[in-house]
Amino acid sequence: MTSVGTMGSESLRNAMVDRFVADQAAEGSSPRPEVERALRTVPRELFTPGLPLEQAYENEAVLKKMRGDEAISSVSAPFLIARMLGQAADALNGLDGRHVLEIGSGGYNASLLRELVGASGSVTTVDIDREVTDRAVSCLAAAGYDDVTVVCADAEHPIVPARTFDLIIVTVGSWDIPPAWIDQLTDDGVLVLPLRTFGMSRSWALRRREDRLVSVSQRLCGFVSMQGAGAREVRYVDIADGVHLRLDEGQHVDPAAVADLLTTPREQVWAGVSLPPRTDLSDLDLWLATRPRRDAEQFVVLSAQEDAVEAGIVTPSWRFAVPATLEAGTLTYRSALRWTDRHFDLGACAHGIVAAAAAGRMVEHMRAWVEAGSPPPVLHVLPTRTPDGDLPDGAVLDKRHCRLVLAFTPHEKGTP
Ligand SMILES: C[S@@+](CC[C@H](N)C(=O)[O-])C[C@H]1O[C@@H](n2cnc3c(N)ncnc32)[C@H](O)[C@@H]1O
Repeated sequence: MTSVGTMGSESLRNAMVDRFVADQAAEGSSPRPEVERALRTVPRELFTPGLPLEQAYENEAVLKKMRGDEAISSVSAPFLIARMLGQAADALNGLDGRHVLEIGSGGYNASLLRELVGASGSVTTVDIDREVTDRAVSCLAAAGYDDVTVVCADAEHPIVPARTFDLIIVTVGSWDIPPAWIDQLTDDGVLVLPLRTFGMSRSWALRRREDRLVSVSQRLCGFVSMQGAGAREVRYVDIADGVHLRLDEGQHVDPAAVADLLTTPREQVWAGVSLPPRTDLSDLDLWLATRPRRDAEQFVVLSAQEDAVEAGIVTPSWRFAVPATLEAGTLTYRSALRWTDRHFDLGACAHGIVAAAAAGRMVEHMRAWVEAGSPPPVLHVLPTRTPDGDLPDGAVLDKRHCRLVLAFTPHEKGTP
């Protein structure tokens, strides 16, 4: 493969990967060696034409194509891609010799995949946007990866009739799993995709088990949204300057009913737990999303701009997305953590008519998750025709093309 030749590029690239390795170590893990090698090999600046070299090695999505305020395409952030490649490689026990379909092109991830699948594997990448595929073709050629197949099409439909892949990796935010993705998977194949459930995105690695797909791992992620036949609208309701509720498809909130909620007194309730720093709270957020709802109680996602958090208008645990509920003129959300030495407590804030009771209920759910051993979610993807009686235990979410069940298995006491 072509080398870029400047020390600047190579040292910037190595510094970027060193940061990634250090971040992983802080989380108690390490990247797979072949993923780390691929990251150290592919010159990302060749896929970010026109951008200063340093920017190509920042851990950010770049070359964003906008439609109004919304990004519809980008060259994804390297660490996001690297983690998904790690999920794929773990699930398939390595990618050497695999045949891969990437949905959402740009060239950079396709090149990493090309490095990972080796001479006997193959990479096909598809994008709905001709401008993106044209750029990917020329960037891949410039980097010497001229055996990647680039297709311009809506990936909702089969790409190459009758062709199957060992790995389908989706790099665009999805709301559903169209039949074409499952049909194009080999029997032992793995689908890695960023999927929105309850308004929150996670990158899931899924394998077939009989008539269904079952997750083997999941990670927090964020991607531009799907276009074409699988596009689904994400709607926001502003509840204060720089604070909004994110609604999933089919959800309705009366903006007038929530407009002044945050100006009413805040009720803060603590769970009274003590958790170590590496606890994955994105698992808790899906747990909270899947708790049985009371009548008229709605689950929504709260997000806030930095200014709104700094001004103390809201105190969410993570400003980009925290679980929230609306019920009886009351808004409740997962609040900032309370640290004592090296451990932290979980809490909920509420505003409105039944604030104390609603915040109390949210922290009870948090305590139940901690008492269950902080279990991660497992996603089951079943055909739409599956009768209720054949569904596994868990929270059911019906999409257009499949039935999803999110399940949590409590850890047995004494098991890791
Ligand atoms: C985040 S970018 C992909 C980044 C890329 N994998 C990389 O290497 O950096 C997401 C892409 O998905 C594409 N896309 C959106 N909807 C699509 C669809 N239905 N079929 C195929 N591509 C789609 C967009 O045009 C956009 O270029």
